[in-house]
Amino acid sequence: MAWAKGKPAVQIDLGSEASLRDPAGYFAAAREGGDIQWSDLHRAWLVLSHAEVEAGFRDGTTLSSDRTGPLQRVAASRSAAFERVVELLSGWMNFRDPPFHTRLREPVRSVFTPRAISALEPEIRSIVAGTLDRFDGDVVDLSQAFAKPIPALVIAAMLGVEGEERHRLQRWSDDLSSIVFAITPGEVDEAPILTATEEFSDFFSGLIERERAHPSRSLLSAIIAVDDSDLTHLELIGACTLLLFAGHETTTTLLINALGLLLERPQLAAWLRDHPEADATAVDEFLRVVGPARTMVRKVAADHERGGQQLRRGQNVFLSIAAANHDPAVFERPAEIDLERDPNPHFGFGWGLHFCLGATLGRLEARIALRALLERFPALAAEGPVSPPRASALGFGRRPLLARLGQEARSQRDTAS
Ligand code: HEM
Repeated sequence: MAWAKGKPAVQIDLGSEASLRDPAGYFAAAREGGDIQWSDLHRAWLVLSHAEVEAGFRDGTTLSSDRTGPLQRVAASRSAAFERVVELLSGWMNFRDPPFHTRLREPVRSVFTPRAISALEPEIRSIVAGTLDRFDGDVVDLSQAFAKPIPALVIAAMLGVEGEERHRLQRWSDDLSSIVFAITPGEVDEAPILTATEEFSDFFSGLIERERAHPSRSLLSAIIAVDDSDLTHLELIGACTLLLFAGHETTTTLLINALGLLLERPQLAAWLRDHPEADATAVDEFLRVVGPARTMVRKVAADHERGGQQLRRGQNVFLSIAAANHDPAVFERPAEIDLERDPNPHFGFGWGLHFCLGATLGRLEARIALRALLERFPALAAEGPVSPPRASALGFGRRPLLARLGQEARSQRDTAS
């Protein structure tokens, strides 16, 4: 398609069905109009090449992640209680710029070491096995019965949350997601968010007190114990809620999207089942092609030039992970799903300043969960047509995800009982 630079023939829509069906083709055509383009549709600068998205992720000076300003403006037109929500979200490092960001990130980063994460492996394996044991009947909705509970249980275990309390966390987190993912937070219903914030705060306050009095081996205990941590009590609660939130919604969606792909393409599932040595590269390829995060939003903090365009303070910038992950300048045959792709410098976990602190954990969970499911149910197959993916500019997911476990698996279990 021959487009004049700066004049795309078709309006780019980051949430369109076409961008989901054929991202490599869609974004190649979109990039004809330039690596950075203004979009009237999104009212934002769209950043579309791998190089420019990477530069955007690295820049915490002229591009800002700070959301406290907009939230405070929303709070001004809300009840006084809404101030509490703003306070809580202000402790979320992903919504802050340096130096606040650094102060919030450092204590968490220092305990989220690859070593500490690999120590969680036995617990993750047992959570996954327990989840598979609870499958009921031959047809299951893998999104509800598998992808949803596993990450929530893992993160709860990591924070030292026990038994029934884990299920309450799930509900609060669902309620809070309406504000976190709202592009126009002024329009969301306030009541469930206020309740969730209040209950969340009380719950984590108690948990933090308990961990202070009787330190356990949980990662929360380790964060509290970081010597030079000067996090306030509210910031610690913010860190807990962020970890809970960031850690399970995304991993759930990654599992759903990877399984959706495997059910749609049984030959891919069969190949992966026979090649456990490719588990790690496969998870990264899933992150590249069906990763839950499609776009990261930034604000222009100061007028500057970027990729030949003049950006003005206050404008929105959309770093398109989906476009960067299909850029042929970096990925050979970007349209192809190659479960052994290596290296694979995708931006599924972001990059630079705000690079995902849970990347090691997310990868580990996905590896263990997918392998266990494929091995326990060798005849796993889609039940009816696989539900189509749904995308917005920001994210990508699908549900329900109905699968038939297969006669073989059922008879194995029957024999076992
Ligand atoms: C497969 C699952 C996951 C995906 C796809 C994912 C994706 C991302 C992305 C794209 C960012 C960058 C945000 C930005 O640039 O503004 C991010 C940040 C973050 N993620 Fe994850 N994440 C996943 C799992 C996790 C887990 C398991 C945890 C924790 C237990 C976690 C904790 C965080 C935190 C704390 C940040 C903020 C980092 C900062 O702002 O400095 N994530 N994640």
